[in-house]
Amino acid sequence: MFERRIAVIGAGYVGLTTAACLASLGHRVTCADIDRGKVQRLQDGEVDIVEPDLPALVAEGLAAGRLSFVASATAALAGPGGGAEVVFLCLPTPMGVGGLADLGAVEAVAEEIAADLKAGCIVVDKSTVPVGTAARTRVLLGRDDVSVVSNPEFLREGTAVQDFLHPDRIVVGSDSQDAAERVAALYSRLGAPTVLTDPASAELVKYAANCFLAMKLSYVNSLAELCERLNADIGAVTAGIGYDRRVGHSFLSPGPGWGGSCLPKDTRAMLQIADSTDFEFRLLRAAIETNDRQRQRMVDKIRIAVTGSRAGSLSRTRLGLLGLTFKAGTDDTRDSPSLAIAALLRQAGAVLIAYDPAVAADPVRPELADIMIVDEPYLAAKDVDALVILTEWPDFRVLDWARMAKLVRRPVVVDTRNLLDPDVLSRAGWAWYGIGHRK
Ligand code: UGA
Repeated sequence: MFERRIAVIGAGYVGLTTAACLASLGHRVTCADIDRGKVQRLQDGEVDIVEPDLPALVAEGLAAGRLSFVASATAALAGPGGGAEVVFLCLPTPMGVGGLADLGAVEAVAEEIAADLKAGCIVVDKSTVPVGTAARTRVLLGRDDVSVVSNPEFLREGTAVQDFLHPDRIVVGSDSQDAAERVAALYSRLGAPTVLTDPASAELVKYAANCFLAMKLSYVNSLAELCERLNADIGAVTAGIGYDRRVGHSFLSPGPGWGGSCLPKDTRAMLQIADSTDFEFRLLRAAIETNDRQRQRMVDKIRIAVTGSRAGSLSRTRLGLLGLTFKAGTDDTRDSPSLAIAALLRQAGAVLIAYDPAVAADPVRPELADIMIVDEPYLAAKDVDALVILTEWPDFRVLDWARMAKLVRRPVVVDTRNLLDPDVLSRAGWAWYGIGHRK
């Protein structure tokens, strides 16, 4: 395998994982971020996001001299050993006006680096960007001697390193066959199937994948609701359809709704992309609406569990929430269904006490302002009228539920992830309310 000199611009989830993993594959990587404090910490081997295996990989890259961190994009291009041959743009593309991705950061960096790019090098868009961004990047760079490639990333928070090093596929899109093949070759050691295509198709793959996953989850959450009405069991239904290899078992767990920094943003961006071509993407719109409704549905479930009626009042009810992150294995609370549900519960007048192994009380975070955050799960159970499982942290399964039962006012638990074992809970004296189960 050829060792390439690579610059990675942006040291967020995607950028840092890309940089550390490419270094571990034997390339020489310089990673830039505008946050000087973060760069300093990374130079010292400190990784400030919760991501398994990433700190070890960063330390390994630093020690081997294959990975370094700098505070400017142009410094990353210069890198040790000469000019970068491949430049990855791993920049934030937050939701902009109307739901379309905001490309401000990508455009600013493209303009900043244009003059300093080495002749013959390749600029790779790895951020999730609207269709047409590779073409736009080419215009912004204004360099005929530089190729632009779209190479979307499919990593999940919490398993980012594993996903990068064991990908289901590599997707590379470019108008230049040679540039596409050179980018694909960076990953050759991974032995993954590779889709070489045009830039627009590669850009669309990323949205198409995330939107498909979102639709799959909204479908499962709808099935769970139907199960409740029909006295059927969602676990049996998803097992039954999951064995069909065309459906598969993964991404079939019902929950409080899908969240995080990607699925909500990308589904809305895809709607905008469709709208811009006058295509009404009804299926996707319905998946988003189903997801918005799911949060209210969880609140109704809590209301029924606590008051016995859909019209009952939650005013001054004390609720213990277990889990605030958008899923287990991460400290990320961006667009977390847990926080959306917490906000609805607060609006209904409930008093909230919460525990999450990855979230500490923080007075400067407005989204946590009305929640009393405690640092152990038993404190979240103290004198509450019900407990609500919102994130599927495995630790919650093995709590001492008999001890928890003695702490609460009433042993009622609403399990929006179907995480707990109902038999264990029942033996410990709890009334357990899952989702998609017989009454
Ligand atoms: C998602 C995609 O899974 C990645 O492939 C993609 O690369 C990434 O977005 C991205 O665009 O960067 P991520 O946001 O880390 O990854 O989270 P997921 O693991 O996909 O979970 C999304 C949401 O679905 C979470 O709220 C999770 O709790 C929920 N979920 C997931 C369920 O409710 N049930 C399931 O069975 C699976």
